[in-house]
Amino acid sequence: MRLIILEDAGVVADWAARFVLQRITQFAPGPGRHFVLGLPTGGTPLGMYRRLIDFYKEGRLSFKYVTTFNMDEYVGLPRDHPESYHYYMWNEFFKHVDIDPGNAHVLDGNAADLVGECRRFEELIAAAGGVHLFIGGIGPDGHIAFNEPGSSLVSRTRVKTLAYDTLEANKRFFGNDISKVPRQALTVGVGTVMDAKEVMILITGVHKSLALAKAVEEGVNHMWTVSAFQQHAQALFVCDEDATLELRVKTVKYFKALSEEHQKMIDGVPVDEQRVLH
Ligand code: PGA
Repeated sequence: MRLIILEDAGVVADWAARFVLQRITQFAPGPGRHFVLGLPTGGTPLGMYRRLIDFYKEGRLSFKYVTTFNMDEYVGLPRDHPESYHYYMWNEFFKHVDIDPGNAHVLDGNAADLVGECRRFEELIAAAGGVHLFIGGIGPDGHIAFNEPGSSLVSRTRVKTLAYDTLEANKRFFGNDISKVPRQALTVGVGTVMDAKEVMILITGVHKSLALAKAVEEGVNHMWTVSAFQQHAQALFVCDEDATLELRVKTVKYFKALSEEHQKMIDGVPVDEQRVLH
């Protein structure tokens, strides 16, 4: 596991976008050879999406041969509701780049058969050959996607009832009215994300600092589902200074001393060479 500590949320957004640019470029996608990305929604990745759109507009990056799978979607929220993740992904990212909408997969929270929809999503990921890079955010309670505290760490895509902490955290998007936040969501499982070849988790803000400490310094624990990624062979936690407040000084010093190596990850160092640095 790598912990990449950067100055603030803006630098995290820029670093994450450069990392995606680097990975897609190194993979050299083309017809019949798609790069497969797992994508999150929420406030944290917005800056990364804006930088990726810039890279596309500057002609440095194309999504023509990129297939995406989103982490989650609310159940029962109309697709064109401004808080649905379909709406978010289309408006914040997909419509600004050259991705083929047929390759941009978001779970359908209005499907008549929700269990069947979750199964279909897993099958689509498998048919795409698995995810090369899954990007995620976390909640203050340490959830990854909507894998709330207590979720199985080998879970697959399924229907999940949201925890009170999540309803509280997300009510800001629903006029601060908790009763308007959908109670259920479809979400990839922890196991689904664990299957990706590489995972990058973005964590910013002091309100995530306890979750980051639990994820990095304590044991794997299903009450902090993001901690499962301690056991992933290629996991990056990219955070800002504020998110480190609950970490030990020793932990912060150790990872900060590696910042030169971390810089190489976005400066064009071949993937094989980076692996040696773990
Ligand atoms: P946020 O949400 O990026 O809006 O903080 C992350 C999450 O709840 O997973």
